[in-house]
This record gives sequence, structure tokens and C-alpha cells, in this order.
Amino acid sequence: MKMTLPIKVLGISGSLRKISTNMSALEYMESQAPKLGIDFEIASLQDVPFFNPDTEDDKNDATIKLLEQMKAADAFVFASPEYNYSFTPALKNALDWGSRLPGNEGFKGKAASLISAGGGFGGGRSQYHVRQVAVFLDLFVLNKPEVFLSSFDGTFDKESLELVSEHAQESLVKQLEALKELSLKLNPKEENPKEETPIEIMA
Ligand SMILES: Cc1cc2nc3c(=O)[nH]c(=O)nc-3n(C[C@H](O)[C@H](O)[C@H](O)COP(=O)(O)O)c2cc1C
Repeated sequence: MKMTLPIKVLGISGSLRKISTNMSALEYMESQAPKLGIDFEIASLQDVPFFNPDTEDDKNDATIKLLEQMKAADAFVFASPEYNYSFTPALKNALDWGSRLPGNEGFKGKAASLISAGGGFGGGRSQYHVRQVAVFLDLFVLNKPEVFLSSFDGTFDKESLELVSEHAQESLVKQLEALKELSLKLNPKEENPKEETPIEIMA
């Protein structure tokens, strides 16, 4: 029987706030991932500078780490607040850095899912701009389930910003399951079945 190996998912939050609703949603996904057969890691963009072609070859440790994580990932979850009807410059910058990997090794043919936490529309407008960028990156963005979270209506604890809404928690788990399914469709990951012991035929 063929066994499916865990897939590696990299979560990237477009919010640089120390305590952020988008990061908190990613942390909830990370906490649920092991039982879904997913190795979930969250990238840090805190020390990744703005991409500048003049200094591209002089990458700092944070950028080198991000690019290694992107190469190693089978799939991505991008979480972004809506900033002025779009996604944030921090996330765009991370995608721009990733797009510079030779042969588009970070993104080419991989699956991605989107979540957003924000104001009235749950940050929804940010997601449609990420989808546009993903076309050029050759990422396959999961269509459904879409997840739009409100940063302000009790979905997150008011003080700690921990994700407390059970409905939101269920939505995030469902999306993670669907992301795994899409990723495995695009890039199957199976252990080689053990070679069957050949039957000896006596002459
Ligand atoms: C510069 C800026 C622009 C924003 N623009 C929007 C916007 O267009 N639509 C919206 O719903 N919220 C907007 N917001 C609110 C954020 O989406 C909201 O604060 C969100 O919770 C931040 O996510 P975080 O908790 O992960 O940092 C904006 C916030 C900032 C700082």
C-alpha cells in the first residue's frame, strides 16, 4: 500500500505587528497541522529588507532563511490584513524576494491558500490581489473554502488576539485539509512501496 508523506506548508503573515490577528490565525493553523499530516512552519518577515536589485546578492540571514523555507515548502498559506484595499507591502516584498529564486523554484507549480483578517469585509479585498500576483508566480491558489475573518467582532480575544471563535477555527482546519488535497493532486508525495520479496522458483 502506498503511504502519503506529510506535506510541508509555509505560513506567511503580511502583518508585521508583534501581536496580530493574521499571525494568530496562522498560529492556530500551525497548532492543528500535525493531526492533518502537515508540517507547518511560520516564516518571520521582521528582518527581511525591501527587495533592492542593487543589494540582492548581499542577503541577510533572515532573507536567506525565508528563501530556504520557500524552496522546502510544498505549499503556502498567505495571511494578510487589508491595507487600503490591497494586501500588505510586507507580504508583497516576501513574494518579490521569492520570485527571484532561480527557475522559480520557490513557487512553481505549488499550491497556496489565502486567509485574511481585517475590517468590514474580513480583509477580503486583499485576497483578490494576492490571486493576481500568484498567476505570475505560477502558484495554484485554492478556490474554496475561502476564509475571511473579522479582526474586531470577537473572533479573536480582545486582549491576546488569540483566535477564539469555534466557527473560524473550523473554517481554518477545513481550508488546511483542502490545501493538502490540492497540493497532493499537483505534486503527489508517496513513499515508494516496499519491494516485494521475489519468489524463488526451484529449477
Ligand atoms: C495602513 C492601513 C490601511 C488599512 N486599510 C484597511 C482597508 O482598506 N480595509 C480594512 O478592512 N482594514 C484596513 N486596515 C485595518 C487592518 O486591516 C486591521 O487593522 C487588521 O486587523 C490588521 O491586521 P493584524 O491584526 O494582523 O495586524 C488598515 C490598516 C492600516 C494600518
